[in-house]
Amino acid sequence: MNFRQLLQQNEVVGLAPMDGVTDEAFRLVQTQIEKPDVIFTEFVSAEGLSRGGVKLYDTLLYSPQERPIVGQLFGKDPESFYKSAIVLCELGFDGVDINMGCPAKTVTQHGSGAALIGKPELAAEIIKAAKKGIDDWFNKKVSIDKIGLNNKTLEVIKRNKKYSNLKQDCSYKPTISVKTRLGIDKSIVEQWITHLLNQGIDIITLHGRTLKQGYAGTAGWEEIEKAVQIAKNYDTKIWGNGDVKTKTIAKEYCHKYGVTGVLIGRSAMGNPWAFNDHIASPKEKFSAMLLHAQIFKEVFPHRSFDSLRKHFILYSYGLSNAKQLRASLVRLNSVEELLTLEGEFVNC
Ligand SMILES: Cc1cc2nc3c(=O)[nH]c(=O)nc-3n(C[C@H](O)[C@H](O)[C@H](O)COP(=O)(O)O)c2cc1C
Repeated sequence: MNFRQLLQQNEVVGLAPMDGVTDEAFRLVQTQIEKPDVIFTEFVSAEGLSRGGVKLYDTLLYSPQERPIVGQLFGKDPESFYKSAIVLCELGFDGVDINMGCPAKTVTQHGSGAALIGKPELAAEIIKAAKKGIDDWFNKKVSIDKIGLNNKTLEVIKRNKKYSNLKQDCSYKPTISVKTRLGIDKSIVEQWITHLLNQGIDIITLHGRTLKQGYAGTAGWEEIEKAVQIAKNYDTKIWGNGDVKTKTIAKEYCHKYGVTGVLIGRSAMGNPWAFNDHIASPKEKFSAMLLHAQIFKEVFPHRSFDSLRKHFILYSYGLSNAKQLRASLVRLNSVEELLTLEGEFVNC
């Protein structure tokens, strides 16, 4: 089933995009342990990608078994979204998602992420540009070597395609979607969602919090339900997001609130079993952690373990000796060192 066919289903449960978390190593572990229906990458700067920031292309490495996979962009410059949408299509992504929900100051102070909720006209221009990028690429009106990328970037794109084992172009048009929040400081679901619906997009994923809320309080699923009602006469799918812990709850929410999909984020950190409701044993947790470290070393051989340590701590969550283990986990530098902790981890 391709992604467009999956969209017609009523209980899609996917992995949410998480910057600094859902990198290729994380996504591969998740896929091997329990594959979500759809996976989103971390967000990546549209301006950076279109300017040829080669390091950013590491964020877009994915393996065929992760499909369907959606690449997420953030930014504020429509022309960059046009080019970056072409890049994502060229890399074989099943969909292009636009971030209009990130509350981080580093993103919103430049007018990107959730700040776009306060600039509906610019948001519409961005969507239009990304849609045109997808259309032009799909209809072969443009090719990757005609959008001003330098040779080094074109080489990195080739590397990514080889990594993803991309042999042919997508046979269907990649989707266009927006992931957003309820509003800036209060819910303005009626205006905002109507505005987005009028841009003709495939999916709106709505996180049930405002920008101001950040991650505080609880997600307002009643507001998400309002969006579902507003979207009744549109082809756009409404997916919900916020505080969903397991696949079973995600499916319950699809029925309760009328969304056709749910993205799970934080609950999947250190817990790939969020997607099958399994309560993992310490042995299973250790195996997942080891797999994560091994894949990380394979995919990013030159990176230090620094960015992995937060995952190790999350895998140890719930173990009776988690507190003691933490001191060792935050010092780990290699797979070999990790293996020395097996006894402590498994026999807790
Ligand atoms: C560490 C972290 C990084 C995130 N990065 C992104 C991102 O890159 N793009 C995005 O749309 N949302 C991002 N989010 C928000 C999540 O996708 C999701 O909307 C939010 O965590 C609420 O869902 P949850 O309660 O299931 O975690 C991030 C959240 C966290 C905790």
